[in-house]
Amino acid sequence: MIQSDFLVIGSGIAGLTYAIKVAAQNPDKTVNIITKNKIDECNTKYAQGGIAVVLNQHDSFQSHVDDTLLAGDNLNDKSVVKIVVEEAPARINEIIEWGASFDKSQNGEYDLGKEGGHSANRILHHKDITGYEVERALLQKIATAPNIHVYEHHYAIDLITDHHLGLSVNRFSENHCYGAYVLDNKTKIIHRTLAKVTLLATGGIGQVYIHTTNPNVATGDGIAMAYRAKAKISDMEFVQFHPTALYEPDASPNFLISEAVRGFGAYIRNVKGERFVFKTDERGELASRDIVSQAIDKELKVSGERFVYLDCTHLDAVDFYKHFPNIYDKCKSIGIDPTHDFIPVIPAAHYMCGGINVDKKGRTNITNLLAIGECSRTGLHGANRLASNSLLEGLVYAHRAAEEVSKSINSIEMQLNIPSWNAKGTLAPKELVLITHSRKELKIIMSDYMAIVRSNVRIQRALRRLEIHYKETEDLYNSTVISPQLCELRNLITIAYLIVSQASRRHENKGAHFNVDFV
Ligand code: FAD
Ligand code: SIN
Repeated sequence: MIQSDFLVIGSGIAGLTYAIKVAAQNPDKTVNIITKNKIDECNTKYAQGGIAVVLNQHDSFQSHVDDTLLAGDNLNDKSVVKIVVEEAPARINEIIEWGASFDKSQNGEYDLGKEGGHSANRILHHKDITGYEVERALLQKIATAPNIHVYEHHYAIDLITDHHLGLSVNRFSENHCYGAYVLDNKTKIIHRTLAKVTLLATGGIGQVYIHTTNPNVATGDGIAMAYRAKAKISDMEFVQFHPTALYEPDASPNFLISEAVRGFGAYIRNVKGERFVFKTDERGELASRDIVSQAIDKELKVSGERFVYLDCTHLDAVDFYKHFPNIYDKCKSIGIDPTHDFIPVIPAAHYMCGGINVDKKGRTNITNLLAIGECSRTGLHGANRLASNSLLEGLVYAHRAAEEVSKSINSIEMQLNIPSWNAKGTLAPKELVLITHSRKELKIIMSDYMAIVRSNVRIQRALRRLEIHYKETEDLYNSTVISPQLCELRNLITIAYLIVSQASRRHENKGAHFNVDFV
């Protein structure tokens, strides 16, 4: 058994920031962070463009709020948008104090970039590797906290709730969380990992699609675990596709060409060399992502081509390299010089706007279970997230959740009477290929039927195919020794089901959800 006052599942910006805060506010308490891979392997590490924040007199909170609402197709929770935008400067100052460094101009002020959907320059960044820098600074801070213990290569299989105490629970009854069953991937032991308060900060779902900017760890585990534990999940139909992932036929994940490159002046062109996004939106390349991705998808379907181009050749080469060294080096490594050649790009699954429903303190409907970061649905993003609002949301909600649980931690009892993991009747898997094949097929179903453009027929087809995968995988799960691969497949099927079923219930086109039958 592993035990602590606070359990944090996930080591991206959301989990680490929350851990730092609860550890500092409760020095007599213990904090365990479990993470399924190396500690820094997460979406956060790959974030490029930066963090949106209002930092000077040329900008205003109201303008950031308005841009967020417009990008979100007004499905956002306005009070949440206001909170996040207005609390942003304080949270940013905090991570700067912890050692995160952001680029400055020659006049000593922060060099704020621009991205799609923003009406002002407000993107704080560290070259084109902002996430790497933030993760580095947070890990440095974690290393100084004596009451934080990190468990790498530990995979959370399922949350422990009243159901495991033999009580019957449904989505409307009160349920409590006592921690999680966690597989140590080295020893293969499944630990009861108990805590007074459990936080899900498990990130995104991009791996449910073939083309995605998300690393392999982004399999929606937290959302699927929460769903099984009867947490409320919503807005799953709003899968954001980033318009400009580098087109490399066999790459997985697809390397991102940051929206900041378009903010810097790059153009999107079709294979004939024409700029076509203006036909859809007068903001052209700097319209919000849902609009640009849909325009590219349409162009590709009409032309029959596999990619469009990002043209940076008219931009100042020295300046380009200064701002985007990582993107430049990546392109050069595959024989493309962005200052002379067009970059082939495609839209790729990038961000889950929905997730586990939480209140303004990150609390789910399950007592003592919190969720923050990309796995949560706070109401900030509405139907489509505004660029660079995600890292920000992680910081703001980590703070709010930490403040809230620190008030109540002393009154929460530890539940130790938890049964061990029951592996009775399971055998070692005979053919792992069953898992890899299913994962491949699942990605094809979701990419063919449930990507940027959907229809009622596609939704029904996807649902029917998912039923088969669900049944086959449950059979495998009930008869096979647990592995992360099997659990991830099971979770991806749940995520796919949530996307498809919630899409089937939306009878209108909003943000990232576009169904041709409702035009
Ligand atoms: P993550 O950083 O993804 O962390 C999730 C953690 O949970 C990982 O440590 C993972 O291993 C762990 N985990 C998952 N499942 C389990 C399990 N079962 N057991 C144990 N551990 C588990 N947003 C912006 O605001 N600005 C940007 O510039 C930006 N650029 C981006 C560029 C790329 C290429 C990508 C992919 C995303 C970008 N985003 C950006 C989005 C943003 O990076 C993410 O939404 C954000 O980092 C999510 O943070 P998180 O802490 O919620 O999750
Ligand atoms: C990017 O750099 O284009 C990604 C920004 C984001 O996802 O917010």
